[in-house]
Amino acid sequence: MLDKIEKAKSAISSASLQDAAQLEAFRLEWLSRKGLLQDLMAGLKDAVPEDRRALGQALNDLKNLAWARFEEAQNSLGSSKSDVDVPDMNLPVQFLSLGSRHPLSIVRQQMVDIFARMGFALADGPEIEDDHHNFSALNFPENHPAREMQDTFFISRNPDVLLRTHTSTVQVRLMEKQKPPIRAIMPGRVYRNEAISARAHCLFHQIEGLYIDRNVGFKDLKQTLYHFVKEMFGPEQKIRFRPSYFPFTEPSAEMDISCLICQGEGCNICKHTGWVEIGGSGMVDPNVLEANGINPEEFTGFAFGMGIERITMLRYGIRDLRLFTENDVRFLRQFSGIS
Ligand code: PHE
Repeated sequence: MLDKIEKAKSAISSASLQDAAQLEAFRLEWLSRKGLLQDLMAGLKDAVPEDRRALGQALNDLKNLAWARFEEAQNSLGSSKSDVDVPDMNLPVQFLSLGSRHPLSIVRQQMVDIFARMGFALADGPEIEDDHHNFSALNFPENHPAREMQDTFFISRNPDVLLRTHTSTVQVRLMEKQKPPIRAIMPGRVYRNEAISARAHCLFHQIEGLYIDRNVGFKDLKQTLYHFVKEMFGPEQKIRFRPSYFPFTEPSAEMDISCLICQGEGCNICKHTGWVEIGGSGMVDPNVLEANGINPEEFTGFAFGMGIERITMLRYGIRDLRLFTENDVRFLRQFSGIS
């Protein structure tokens, strides 16, 4: 019996306990109810009474040794259970989360598609601009108050380098390099030094349209925009044109559509009028054509500019413009699956 105990002792001391599987094998072999320690304990009753005390003591030491080795290995493997390698079937499933396109990208694409179907090509230009493209070539005279109204962010002065305040800059760039007919839309980011609120931001997006050809009239401008609004918001949508002023168009008009958020009842988005402005428009001023090398006797054109944030808010019933830049996934996730 003592012999057996000695053998067991060396087996226990030298057992390899490097991983969870070995630890579990060790537990089953020695420590479980049907393990070898229990067998040895059971053998105690067959020993002669004089030996029992010493054997009992030796068996107890053996048991302590086995548990000490087990616990030490268990701690160093960092687990409290013996079933470490078995996955826990009760854990909740981890769903793969799909990304979504940003609502402004979705609406920009919808707008580009509608105008593309009317024959408008896509164009773009730089966000950092000079005075010429943002103002002078668009018939903004020096010291004209309309320049002040644009709340421009200047990067440097004299000569002026600035962040474009509107996408009308791209009109100029197109006229510089292309002869009529020109029929293009130009989406892009614009900047104005305005306080951030539910209705305004210092960074936003516009989409510009320009059509120059022989015999282009105001009726063409109206029909193009009527068609756009009905495609975008449905055939029931109401539109109105209000006389306005822009240095680069004459005559000029602001475009309003009935407020989709409150259905005309009045809310903070439509300033309680039931109408929301979606952009400016007008016939390209002959001065602008001339300044950009196009003969105003031969060609006429129209231009328009719309805010993409505004259209997106109306399209999806979004009441606060700041949501577009806060990157809150609870907001963004609502647009997954829309293209
Ligand atoms: N650029 C003007 C703005 O940002 C909008 C506009 C574009 C008006 C084209 C008329 C023609 O307010």
